[in-house]
Parts: sequence; structure tokens; C-alpha cells
Amino acid sequence: MTMRAAVGLWVLSAVICVGRGHHHPDHLGHGNDKASQDTVEDGSANSVSLVNEANQEFSFRLYRQLAAHADSQGKNIFFSPASVSTALAALSVGAQGETHRQLFSGLGFNSSLLTQTDVDQAFQRFLQRANNTSQEDASEGTSVFVDNGFKPKPEFLQTLKHSYLADGFSVDFSQAAETADTINKYVEEKTNGKIDKLVENLDPSTVMYLISYIYYKGKWESPFDPELTKQDDFNVDENTKVSVDMMNMEKRFHTYHDHDLNTTVLQLPLNSSYSMLLMLPDVMATLENAISPNHVTKWLKAMTRPRKHDVYVPKFSIKTSYNLNDVLSEMGMTDMFGDRANLRGISEEQGLKVSDVVHKATLDMDETGAEAAAATGISIMPMSGFWGPVPVLKFNRPFMVLITERNTEKILFLGKIINPTI
Ligand SMILES: *[C@@H]1O[C@H](CO)[C@@H](O)[C@H](O)[C@H]1NC(C)=O
Ligand SMILES: *[C@@H]1O[C@H](CO)[C@@H](O)[C@H](O)[C@H]1NC(C)=O
Ligand SMILES: *[C@@H]1O[C@H](CO)[C@@H](O)[C@H](O)[C@H]1NC(C)=O
Ligand SMILES: *[C@@H]1O[C@H](CO)[C@@H](O)[C@H](O)[C@H]1NC(C)=O
Ligand SMILES: *[C@@H]1O[C@H](CO)[C@@H](O)[C@H](O)[C@H]1NC(C)=O
Repeated sequence: MTMRAAVGLWVLSAVICVGRGHHHPDHLGHGNDKASQDTVEDGSANSVSLVNEANQEFSFRLYRQLAAHADSQGKNIFFSPASVSTALAALSVGAQGETHRQLFSGLGFNSSLLTQTDVDQAFQRFLQRANNTSQEDASEGTSVFVDNGFKPKPEFLQTLKHSYLADGFSVDFSQAAETADTINKYVEEKTNGKIDKLVENLDPSTVMYLISYIYYKGKWESPFDPELTKQDDFNVDENTKVSVDMMNMEKRFHTYHDHDLNTTVLQLPLNSSYSMLLMLPDVMATLENAISPNHVTKWLKAMTRPRKHDVYVPKFSIKTSYNLNDVLSEMGMTDMFGDRANLRGISEEQGLKVSDVVHKATLDMDETGAEAAAATGISIMPMSGFWGPVPVLKFNRPFMVLITERNTEKILFLGKIINPTI
């Protein structure tokens, strides 16, 4: 595994820890057993797009839940919806009855349209596509660490391996510190050094640890000039200013002003087919409460003609860390954390529950993120018919950020920057 220089990267990782627990058998059917009502001819393509849509919706529901949480007040938010949903979908392979129903509906999968197998196949498609298209600048995957004294059902491991492309490892969780170290090293390597301590406390009674990671590195289609980067104020709120390194570029950008949300959206294209969207609202709550996949679709569509702007974006490096137990419970995924957990798809013999779901992420933005590729272009532009003053677009107050793949509109990362200096 190659370790690359850590400059201008996006990273993320999510984990599910499955500990030993009691369980009360219940008699609800497994989500798997439900026959798909789907009679559309290209059923598989259809279910892939249903899962994709559900993942997009999940991104913003999870964002709102995180943003509303007491622990998030006064903090930046940054996470990978793609990683969280992959980890939870992999867990749902082993869930049954009400636990499965909660995971399925929490993730936004409609069980009258989708079976667990449809979901598994869709994730297989997403993960293969990520693996196929992105050797250098992005990687995404899952893995499962299993205690050497614990025997999960072979079908469970088989599905994880086959559909979630999981790496499997046998470890000794009774040696908790050592095993935590092994897991942390694995994640560190997969994220190019960015997430180096995913696991902080590992309970020695853990029998299985599921991981999903994602790593992305892109360079701006046109980089910022470091000479134009100047110290400037960022207005955290009405009374608080902090000093940031503000990058600057004047050129033609794809932007959109959404009048319904009083938000200006800037698209910063990255190499390959990725883009960063920066959303600068008049009032953060208006944007946060309303933002949906339809907005992203609308913005990307509307941004057809680039217009000249004088753009200011702070240069920053942030890290976030979440325990998602409360947030997921609040989203209806409660049973998996307690005695009612039904994870009999993993093992019939042991009552299993989830002890923790943690998530860490980092975001680094700078001028260079870019490998300098030389390019000379002579632009021949359509007459815009308007040569007014060049509008200024300055991200010098809290804004939201989203990284998406333009073709599928898959949301890799999502967040809110309220203070680039913390
Ligand atoms: C699930 O799909 C069915 C059939 O299209 C629809 O009637 C139902 O409202 C959907 N349920 C949810 C929660 O969206
Ligand atoms: C990934 O590549 C393999 C082999 O090149 C191919 O068989 C598969 O269809 C590709 N999958 C996707 C989702 O592009
Ligand atoms: C991912 O891609 C690499 C290189 O193309 C290939 O060797 C590997 O088998 C792929 N992994 C999976 C799980 O498809
Ligand atoms: C995109 O940029 C990253 C970071 O510089 C680089 O590793 C990767 O090879 C680039 N990808 C393409 C397709 O140019
Ligand atoms: C948007 O801004 C205008 C003008 O400041 C205001 O009248 C309107 O109520 C705002 N809309 C929302 C949704 O905040």
C-alpha cells in the first residue's frame, strides 16, 4: 500500500462496532424475504437509482440531525454520507426483524420497492465503480475485523465480501489495545494518514468491527494563485471575527443564486468528474433546514453558463469526530443499540447489538490541492451581453460545503464551515 504525501485531501471513515449483547427473539420476518414488487423491466438499474436517491436524501437528514445536536453547536460539521450509509447498509445485511426494518427505513430504503439483496447489489455497483475509476485520487471500501473466537454466519461474511468488497481480518479483541492499534493502522493506511485514530476505546468483549472508509484527493480545475492569498477576517457571527488565509481568484465561475433560499452557490470543479459546491446563505438556518437533493440537481443544471466573479475562499484544515449512537437513534435506528437488537443474520448463537457508531472526517483546502498541469487555453466566449461591475463573492462568513460526483450526484462529503480556524 502506497502512502502519498498528504496535501489537500478529503477523507472520511465510518465504523460500526458490534459488541456482545442479550437479545430477545422476535417473530418479525427478515426484510430479505420480502419479494420485490418491482416489475420494471430494467429492475436492477431501477433499484440502483432508488438506492442512490435514498442515499442522497439520507445525506441531508443526517446532516440536519447532526446540526441540531447539542454537541454540534458552535462547531464545524463535516462527514461522509457515503461512508455512513455504506457501513449501515453492510450492518443491515446481518440484521433481522424490527432491527432490520429500522435500519432500512432509517437509511431511506422503501421495503415495498427494495429488498436487502437489491441494496447489496446497488452498493456493489457503487463500490466497484469507485474502485474502477479512481486508482490515484480516491478510494472507498469496507472491511470487517472478526474475533478469532467468534464464528459469524458464512453467508454474512460472503455478502460483505462479495457486495461490499470487504477485506476480512481475524483479530483477538481481548487484546483490546493491540487490536485497536491494528484497526487504526489499517484505517490510517486506507485514508493516506488522514484518519489515524478511528478507535479510541475498544471494549475487550467486542466480537466484530465493521469499517467503511473513503478517501478523495482532487485538484482544482484552475488553482488559486498563492500570491493572492492574504490574511482576512472571517465573520463567525455578528460579534466574532477570526483571521484566516483568504484565497482569491477572479475568473469565470459557475454560480447560481437561489432566491428561495437566499443562497449563492459556487461550483469549484475538481479534476475527473468531481465538484465542490460552496453555498453561502444570507441566513444559515434557511439553507440548512431546506437543502435537499433536488436543490443540488437544480443548481448543477442551472449553472450552465460561467460568469466572471471575484471569488474569496478561506484556506483551512479541519477535523471532526462523532459518536453517532444518539443521532442514529433519533433517526429511528434504536433497537440495534440495545437489548432488542436482532443481528441474527450475523450469528444465531449470540445475541448481538451495536455498541458504538463513530465517525471521523477531515477536510483540507488550499490553493494547490493541485498538481500543476500546464494548460494553455484561448477562450472564445459567447457574448454575455453584460459588462457590469465584476460581482464579489466572498466566503467570509459561515457557509456549507458539499463534494459530489457530477454524473451520479452521489454526495461524498457534506458540511458547514462556521469557523475555519478551529
Ligand atoms: C414505498 O413505495 C410504495 C409504492 O410506491 C408507496 O406507496 C409508499 O408510499 C412508499 N413508502 C414510503 C415510506 O415512501
Ligand atoms: C469494473 O471493472 C470491471 C473489470 O474491468 C468490470 O467487469 C465491471 O463491470 C466494472 N464495474 C463498474 C461498476 O463499472
Ligand atoms: C479494484 O481495482 C483493482 C485495480 O483495478 C483490482 O485489482 C481489484 O481487484 C479491484 N477490487 C475489487 C474488489 O474489485
Ligand atoms: C486528480 O488530482 C489528484 C490530486 O492531484 C491526482 O492524484 C489524480 O491523478 C488526478 N486525476 C486525474 C484523472 O487527473
Ligand atoms: C430572502 O431575502 C429577502 C430580501 O432580504 C427577504 O425578503 C426574504 O424573506 C428572504 N427569504 C427567505 C426564504 O429567507
